Parts: sequence; C-alpha cells; structure tokens
Amino acid sequence: MSTNSTASELLTWDRATLEDVASKVGTPFYIYSGEELRKRANEVLSIVEAEGAQARYAMKACSTRKILEELQSLGFWIDAVSGNEILRAVQAGFAPGQNPPTVLYSADVFRDNAIEAIKEHHALPNVGTPHMIDQLAEADYRGAIGIRINPGFGHGHVQQCDTGGPSSKHGIWYEDLEDSIARCKKYGFPIKLIHAHIGTGPAIGEFQTNIKRLVEYYSSIITSFDEVDAVNLGGGIPHPYREGDKRIDIAACRDLVSEAQKTLSEKAGRSIRIEIEPGRYVVAASATLVGRVCGLKDTRDNEKGPGQRFVTVDAGFCDLVRPTMYGSYHRIEVPGREGESLTPQVIAGPMCESGDVFTRDSDELLDPRPLPNLEIGDLLTIHDAGAYGFTMSSNYNSLGRVPQVWYDNGQAHLVSRRQVLEDLIREECDEPL
Ligand SMILES: Cc1ncc(COP(=O)(O)O)c(C=O)c1O
Repeated sequence: MSTNSTASELLTWDRATLEDVASKVGTPFYIYSGEELRKRANEVLSIVEAEGAQARYAMKACSTRKILEELQSLGFWIDAVSGNEILRAVQAGFAPGQNPPTVLYSADVFRDNAIEAIKEHHALPNVGTPHMIDQLAEADYRGAIGIRINPGFGHGHVQQCDTGGPSSKHGIWYEDLEDSIARCKKYGFPIKLIHAHIGTGPAIGEFQTNIKRLVEYYSSIITSFDEVDAVNLGGGIPHPYREGDKRIDIAACRDLVSEAQKTLSEKAGRSIRIEIEPGRYVVAASATLVGRVCGLKDTRDNEKGPGQRFVTVDAGFCDLVRPTMYGSYHRIEVPGREGESLTPQVIAGPMCESGDVFTRDSDELLDPRPLPNLEIGDLLTIHDAGAYGFTMSSNYNSLGRVPQVWYDNGQAHLVSRRQVLEDLIREECDEPL
C-alpha cells in the first residue's frame, strides 16, 4: 500500500507491498502511484482553471501509455517531441486535429516519421529552426504553425538544461523572427501559436520571475502576429526532490496565468489562450524505482581519499540516469527499516561504469547517504523517479528495461514487462544495401 504521510507529503511504500510485486516481476522495477499522479496532475490543472487557459503534458517526461491515458482523461493536451510521441499520444486517446490543437509537436529538427505523423494526425508543428518551415512546405504540409522562440533569457534546473539565451540551441532567436514570419507567409501557414520554454532556474522563485518576464516579452511582440490565438509559457515547474525543499506556490501560478490571459488578450484585441506544458511536476513524484541490495564492500582510507561503504544494488543508471547525468538528488528509503540509526553509504548499480552511483553530488563526487545499515536482500526505494526516469532508461550493458507497475486502489497492474534478449536484438539484421 502506498501512503502519503501528511506531515511530510512524501510518498512511501511498505515492504510487504513491494515484496509482493517483486515476487511476481522480480527486481528492479518501477512502481507508479495512481493517487500521487492524480494529486499532482490536479494541482497543475488548477493553475489553468481560468477561462482560456490550457495545460499540456510534456510527454517526454514519461510516455508510458497508462500515464498518458490518465492525463488524457483528466483533460491535459500534449506536448510531443517526435513522430513516435505523436503516435503514442494518439494511441493513448488524445484526439488528433488542430481544432483544438490537442497534440503539439515542439522540436528543433524533424526526424524519422515526424512530418508524416504531423500530417497524418494534424498535430500542430511548433518549429524551433527556420528551415523547418521550408521542410514542411516541401512535404506539402497544409495547416497552422507554431513558432518556438528563444527570447534571449532563461535556464533550467542545472547548467546542462540551457533553455534560453545565446548558448541555448532551442527555438528561433527573438531578433530573427521577421524571417520566420515571412517564410510562413510565403507558404500560407498561419502562425497560430507562439511558444517559449525558458525553464525553472535552480531557485524556486525564479520560475515566477521568468514567467513574468516572458509574459512582458510576449506583450511586446503579440501585435506582430495577426493570427496567433495561443501563447505557450512552456513547462519547468520545479519539483521538490529533496526532503524539506519548498513546493511551488500553485495559487500564485494560477494568478500569473489568468493575468497573462487578460494582458495578452487585451494587447492582441482578441482572446488569447494561455498554455503551460509541464512534464516533471506532473509525474516526478508518482514513480519509485525499486531495487534490491545484492552486495556490500568497503574501501579504506589512503592517500587518494577516504574509504567508503559501497552497497551494490541491481538498479543502475540504465534504469534512472539523472544522478549520473546531472548529479541529481533522489530520496532513498529502505522500507521496513524505518527508525534505525543511520550510517553514510554509497549506493552503486550493476553497470560497468564507475559513474553508476545513485549517491553523487552536482560536482559528480561521491555523496554517501545516511541510511540504515544495509543488508543483502533489503529493498531500496529511489523516489521521485517518474520524470525523465523510465523514458531516459537504456539497454546499456545489454540489460533489459525494467517492468513498470501501476498501483491504484490497492491493486498492482503490470503496464510494461521486463525486456528480454529478443527485445534487445529485434532490429538487428544482415541485409545487402
Ligand atoms: C519545450 C519543452 N516544454 C516542456 C518541457 C518540460 O519541462 P519540465 O519537465 O521541466 O516541466 C521541456 C523540457 O525539456 C521542453 O523542452
């Protein structure tokens, strides 16, 4: 059973539930709490409860069908980044078509089946590079267009997430918009949406400051876009990963959105829909990666540094890459060992990479975590793994992707099984070209 302790608002799992699931699917596995997903999703929906506001879900954060179906039934629209994401959204029940434009395709490149999927399902292409407009015309696309703008400012939760400014690859530079407007005119593509995703910045207050600045910027350009009926503020609502981290003020975000709706509609002289498109905040808390302790070993102090207790577990960065990629912090618990005294331990995975360690800091150094003295067979829960968790998982070391389990109303359901060798080698071939 999953419980939300009211004191800390943190999702926890009891060992009996997890052992029961483990006895059926093995470890490691991802488990999603339906209750937690709906709680966060409803918070996001409350931000857009004003008339003329809409939330999209940035499905790159987690594209598991069950998650998409839940969010579709709650009233989200989609932000997709590939042809296959469009197809997965449609399969999960998101309505195709541009009236309203339920599925948005936002990227800087068309790859694989992207244009084909846009055309087939009438998704709204939101271009981040001017040449994408020509490529749509060459592919005989007919329909509306969105323009992703780099407004010259903004940045994400870590240095690598560079979402706006001269060093960001995303969007069309704000001083070069005339050229894109002219291209759209030439091909007869009405520009229906302007878009920017400028990210959260590392501090909680930055989200609001950035969004205010973005609304001011949109106000200054909206009259150049005669046919725009929607303005998208992007995603980036920060999720509190660390115990004690502050939560975003949802009511303040709601006010920001309804003020933006009024300001931009007044400026444009027509009703402008305001869109937000968070991924992380919607799904991060809902999923937990569960692994089992497989081994214990120690190193000793020497001239290179202090000795460590290494606890090896069966989950690794092939399952959750964020700690290795960004030094991201994820809460770790040992169900059934609550209340015991804690010792700093390093939690390391099975991969043939020294970076396969869940307890690292943002400078990529080991950051031993105070945990109960771990023993072989203990289950370990790595929390807040729903966003950029399973979707960023890989088959590195030829390990199969782990099963995903949906847990709702006291019932566990398998929503994707563990990959086996055949899944990994399915596309290998030997064909003359
Ligand atoms: C265009 C766009 N929209 C939305 C998001 C979602 O951001 P987050 O998951 O931080 O809310 C991203 C993240 O990369 C993005 O690039």
